[in-house]
Amino acid sequence: MLRKIQETASWLLSHTTERPTIAIILGTGLGQVAKDIEVTASFEYSSIPHFPVSTVEGHTGRLLFGRLGATPVLAMQGRFHYYEGYDMPTVTFPLRVMHEVGIRTLFVSNAAGGMNPAFSVGDIMLIRDHINFFPEHPLRGRNLPFGPRFPDMSEAYDRQLLARAHAIARSHGIQVQEGVYVGVSGPTYETPAEYRMYRILGGDAVGMSTVPEVIVARHQGMRVFGVSIITDMGVEGSIVEVSHEEVQQAANAAQPKLATIIRGLVAGLA
Ligand code: HPA
Repeated sequence: MLRKIQETASWLLSHTTERPTIAIILGTGLGQVAKDIEVTASFEYSSIPHFPVSTVEGHTGRLLFGRLGATPVLAMQGRFHYYEGYDMPTVTFPLRVMHEVGIRTLFVSNAAGGMNPAFSVGDIMLIRDHINFFPEHPLRGRNLPFGPRFPDMSEAYDRQLLARAHAIARSHGIQVQEGVYVGVSGPTYETPAEYRMYRILGGDAVGMSTVPEVIVARHQGMRVFGVSIITDMGVEGSIVEVSHEEVQQAANAAQPKLATIIRGLVAGLA
């Protein structure tokens, strides 16, 4: 694993002169945030040595190097989900490579079902914390020498970035929510009883990604900012049939607001 990570990182570093310290994982329907990036190098996942290949509709599968405003960034257009059948080391392989190419701050976005009754479809939820409900832990196995055996998770999501995101949203008149993201394997959406359970356990939104990536990012000491687009509601009385298309549509509609927040955060880190 270590050798593969290093080979992939060296390959990337020899194929671009960009040296970003910020990476953005563009989740479902948020691929268009990539349009804000002035791309200087673009790599199809299939062309990168050892990189897994994305299989989900709506996930293009490209690693982009470029500038967001004046700031160098690396963006993953399309991610790897556990439900696709990848094991955790594969799901989180790109995060390991990111660390090796010099990434120290991670921005991550996803689509999620809202369980907090104050939320509505189309809302943006800044992630304050998460609950890991995946059946396999991404750090299970031999500890890779990028971080401690027993990583601290007392502040998985950086409080300073969270506060700045609130300030940016306020100054642009963008309404945001804040809450706890529950990460599950999927690929089924939840039954009403499951939504209720995750709500009782302390979740505000539930989705099928992000948690493994954030855990691996934190293992490596990266600062993390995460955001969910609420694409459907898992609150008793407002639960309706969910389709992947509707999830993507709702995520698309929230894109401009999310792009504003991410641009602001990145500019603040420059
Ligand atoms: N549950 C799980 N994952 C999701 C949902 C949901 O309701 N909406 C978007 N991704």
